[in-house]
Amino acid sequence: MNDNSNKIKRVSTPREQVIATILKNRAFAAQASAAAFAPANIALCKYWGKRDESLNLPLTASLSVSLGELGTQTRISLTESETRVSLNGQRVDKSAEFFRRIEQFLAQFPWPAPYHFAIETRNNIPTAAGLASSASGFAALVLALNDLFGWQLSGRELSILARLGSGSASRSIYTGFVEWHAGTDPAGLDSFAEPLEQVWPDLRVGVLTLKTEEKAISSRVGMKRTRETSVLYQVWPDKVRVDLQNLKHAIQHRDFALLGQSAESNALAMHATMISAWPPVVYWLPESLAVMQRIWQLRNQGLPLYFTMDAGPNIKLLFLQTHTDSVQAAFPGVQVVAPFSAR
Ligand code: PMV
Repeated sequence: MNDNSNKIKRVSTPREQVIATILKNRAFAAQASAAAFAPANIALCKYWGKRDESLNLPLTASLSVSLGELGTQTRISLTESETRVSLNGQRVDKSAEFFRRIEQFLAQFPWPAPYHFAIETRNNIPTAAGLASSASGFAALVLALNDLFGWQLSGRELSILARLGSGSASRSIYTGFVEWHAGTDPAGLDSFAEPLEQVWPDLRVGVLTLKTEEKAISSRVGMKRTRETSVLYQVWPDKVRVDLQNLKHAIQHRDFALLGQSAESNALAMHATMISAWPPVVYWLPESLAVMQRIWQLRNQGLPLYFTMDAGPNIKLLFLQTHTDSVQAAFPGVQVVAPFSAR
């Protein structure tokens, strides 16, 4: 019998290969523990549709604004026994989706020995507020790992690693306005986010939570179905090109009307691609539409107020600091975020 017959070499996945490429020649000498914060982010020009499912490679570029102090703080250390995860002080069950996503992510790293981790993660955004806590969560985890092992990875490398956890996490590595370049490399080594240099201290994001339950269709499933079945998806890359250009112009020249219009129209176009998928992907609730109609009414009355929406029914308002009182009067439950300055 051939000696090698029972030595089955495990073939590494494309993700494992990318992670190994990034960590090549890096030491794995862990310090006792490390902690990092990453902000949540809201896309003004959305990421919707992957060109590669396994590597979270997007079909188009996207542009977001990070939510300042709102996000995820993660502390990590090595442990002798099994991996443990806590969320906001509560131990997370091993069977929970939250635990499994972290465990699967960590399992792809080329650890020199079977490492186990103790991970404490805290979100100062309501976890179910419809803000993507997976984006800040994976970004904080990658930043904390980088610190724990002293890898000293570049922003580009950190963004790529975070992207493998969740696409939008690539943008949560940075504060402020952030652009995620789609890239063309099949391995995705040119698909990473970078910060824009401009700041906009008066910009405000208002989070309106209409429903806190888990969404029925994950963004992963929604994107795939849209890309595969929606006839409107064909024009999505053109829409993104125009909106990105306008958003960058708006940010450069502090043209709030152009920023608001581009972001709102981009979000509505993304939802139009979903609604025309089959089976339809509809995240709107009657309350979502009622809020939109109220926003359009207020805008007609002269209030410069716009919105954006992600893969859920909640609405994020966009406005300038001087209109905070009017926005709060119209939407008493709104949580106001100042992405560029302390509140
Ligand atoms: O990163 P994911 O897989 O959760 O996808 C995020 C998708 C949107 O939130 C709808 C858009 C975006 O660019 O954040």
